[in-house]
Amino acid sequence: MKDIKGKVLENIPISSRTYMMRVLAPQIAPYVRPGQFVMVKVSHTKDPIGRRAFAIADIKEDSLFIFYDVVGRGTELLSSLPRGSQVDILGPLGKGLFNLDGDKHLLVGGGIGLAGLTLLGKELRKAGKKVFFLYGARSKEHISMENWLKEEGFDYAIYTEDGSYGKKGLITDALSDFDSSWVVSACGPKGMLKALKKLIDPNRLYLSLESRMACGWGVCLGCVVKNKEGHYVRVCYEGPVFRADEVIL
Ligand SMILES: Cc1cc2nc3c(=O)[nH]c(=O)nc-3n(C[C@H](O)[C@H](O)[C@H](O)COP(=O)(O)OP(=O)(O)OC[C@H]3O[C@@H](n4cnc5c(N)ncnc54)[C@H](O)[C@@H]3O)c2cc1C
Ligand code: FES
Repeated sequence: MKDIKGKVLENIPISSRTYMMRVLAPQIAPYVRPGQFVMVKVSHTKDPIGRRAFAIADIKEDSLFIFYDVVGRGTELLSSLPRGSQVDILGPLGKGLFNLDGDKHLLVGGGIGLAGLTLLGKELRKAGKKVFFLYGARSKEHISMENWLKEEGFDYAIYTEDGSYGKKGLITDALSDFDSSWVVSACGPKGMLKALKKLIDPNRLYLSLESRMACGWGVCLGCVVKNKEGHYVRVCYEGPVFRADEVIL
């Protein structure tokens, strides 16, 4: 884990609610594994206090890519950082990572949760595995990373609950197309993860959790969830990825 000042190379809107930030971070980029995340300081003042957590969605030439929805003060400030500015980044963080075993991998992303799976998709493909993305959201405005999937040449299907884009329905509607030989990795809203847990054998289901975090490296206990033994585990440290039967959502 490094605490660095990264140079913002790009920070641009890619849809009505989502930004893509590219940060030069040669001290972090070569060491990132799929599933890991960074804590980003969104302001040089104490308002707002603390850093914000973001998945490392992609890596190219020593730079990290973050895709983020503007949902509150922190992400709004982040979206105002100009090209060339410096940003404090702590990472890479997280020890519990995705399972890369198995030949066929279904990656299920809910809304901006897709950003937690994209690097995994690239790594699996590099290892010669079959990869398919299921990308679901409430409505069209929450589908902001389709271009990334297209540009990277991945196979995917999109579902929106209201039918405003892709197929109408929930991504769980598509699960019958994938038999038990597929390893499933998912990231997104808790409701989606719970639904997947009910429908898929938890031994082949891996969940990346996005609990609210304060420190990001195991000291504040702000992000804990209970494991199957009833003990608390830190999402930022023991996670963020857990096999589905290891945690209680
Ligand atoms: C490991 C991890 C990886 C993440 N990766 C991404 C990512 O790649 N892209 C992205 O857009 N977001 C990601 N998030 C969520 C992101 O950290 C929050 O959206 C961000 O901290 C919000 O900051 P804010 O100050 O703008 O909003 P706040 O003012 O803090 O909150 C605004 C609203 O968002 C809700 N909110 C804040 N944090 C979360 C959360 N973790 N889960 C659910 N609701 C939340 C609040 O309850 C509130 O309603 C990730 C979170 C974690 C823990
Ligand atoms: S965020 Fe502090 S322990 Fe996880």
